[in-house]
Amino acid sequence: MPAAGIAPGGSGKEYPGNLTPFVTVTCVVAAMGGLIFGYDIGISGGVTSMDSFLLKFFPSVYRKKHADDTVNQYCQYDSQTLTMFTSSLYLAALLSSIVASTVTRAFGRKLSMLFGGLLFFAGALVNGFAQAVWMLILGRILLGFGIGFANQSVPLYLSEMAPYRYRGSLNIGFQLSITVGILVANVLNFFFNKIKGGWGWRLSLGGAMVPALIITIGSLVLPDTPNSMIERGQTEEAKTKLQRIRGVEDVDEEFDDLVAASAQSKLVEHPWTNLLQRKYRPHLAMAVCIPFFQQLTGINVIMFYAPVLFNSIGFGDDAALMSAVITGIVNVCATMVSIYGVDKWGRRFLFLEGGVQMLICQVVVAACIGAKFGIDGNPGDLPKWYSIIVVLFICIYVAGFAWSWGPLGWLVPSEIFPLEIRSAAQSVNVSVNMIFTFAVAQIFLMMLCHLKFGLFLFFAFFVVVMSIFVYFFLPETKGIPIEEMGQVWRSHWYWSRFVEAEAGHGNGNMEMAAKVV
Ligand code: BGC
Repeated sequence: MPAAGIAPGGSGKEYPGNLTPFVTVTCVVAAMGGLIFGYDIGISGGVTSMDSFLLKFFPSVYRKKHADDTVNQYCQYDSQTLTMFTSSLYLAALLSSIVASTVTRAFGRKLSMLFGGLLFFAGALVNGFAQAVWMLILGRILLGFGIGFANQSVPLYLSEMAPYRYRGSLNIGFQLSITVGILVANVLNFFFNKIKGGWGWRLSLGGAMVPALIITIGSLVLPDTPNSMIERGQTEEAKTKLQRIRGVEDVDEEFDDLVAASAQSKLVEHPWTNLLQRKYRPHLAMAVCIPFFQQLTGINVIMFYAPVLFNSIGFGDDAALMSAVITGIVNVCATMVSIYGVDKWGRRFLFLEGGVQMLICQVVVAACIGAKFGIDGNPGDLPKWYSIIVVLFICIYVAGFAWSWGPLGWLVPSEIFPLEIRSAAQSVNVSVNMIFTFAVAQIFLMMLCHLKFGLFLFFAFFVVVMSIFVYFFLPETKGIPIEEMGQVWRSHWYWSRFVEAEAGHGNGNMEMAAKVV
């Protein structure tokens, strides 16, 4: 996002207002919603590689893992119940994000965040005290419901609270808190695994109560967004709130635009069918393709199963958990690079550079694993240099993702949808992301068992496809105010055929305004 943006209506207005301590604290607290998501992504892979956890809940996996070395290493973790443990959460998150969109709209963003925190807390509690597999899965489903609510409301909340000049960085701030959550989980797994008596996994899973409490308490003290208050008829209070948030008295222009935008969006009765109109074809295509491709980079194979994967390719338990900590650190640092560079180098450059980087690494990792494990998955002795090379290339791969498809997979959809379809298109984006997160989590261990090192080539193939897609079909959105985004489609070699009928209109909002008048 450029420093100077254009207010809704596309008239080049600049709203007064500062990045006040009030809004900063508010956004930091709200971004904790990303922390619970990240904590969860990081924690499950670690506990599923802990022996005490496997022995208690998945004894057959434990036995396979500790059978003599001639057992095919690729298949040692292949168990549908174990996979269900990881992936059940994403199915629950998918379902609840649909419910959450109604709660968020009708009762405000805060209530959804509160539900998110409470459900997440309940899930962490059930998991921490789990005695049987069904308790684990129930806990995961509750966590998933929590994440669905949080992921639906937090990004919306942040965008509405943030002064428009800082919306881009705050958006990636959410991704940054996801990566911090993953890292914290990896570090805790490493230490909790060392606890004598083998109950460390209870702390790992139960530890999710801490970020859950932060977001629960946060949602009680956070103010509601002015947009949401207006939407629910509290117009006067909304204005006072806006003055407090922006730190200036003169908020009339922004306030009037918020009221107008809310009135306009109420006129759209069927945002879902609206989305199917021909002129929204590029937006719909992006709402589906971007999250699909983000997950088909294969990143969550590393995020969920890094310790399991490192374990499979010959690392000891401790070394496997440690390697996950290393990839976690790389993930956080590389996300910061994208915060720095996204408005300087542009989205397309990051997408394409990240794609090439991931591709090279996937091919190298496939070759390394293929050379040592071959088809039968029996490596013999693994030299140290070999392990170092594998971890090194996995780290370069994670860095490539973390400054391209990671943050941009959330940022780009959020900046290309015109207001009248924004919420519906964003729901499509979140749902597609969850479906494919679920799919990758669910089938990964089975694929590792059957495709063996070829698994990495499978994802490499998709990285090639997505890079070609970006090259030909994704226009650059750097430096273009959201409300002026219509022009990038109209001047695009392919998408112009869908939107050219609208030529002359600045953007979606203006089209709306034209119809309203
Ligand atoms: C993705 C997650 C992924 C995470 C890794 C996010 O953008 O949506 O699926 O686990 O990045 O940092």
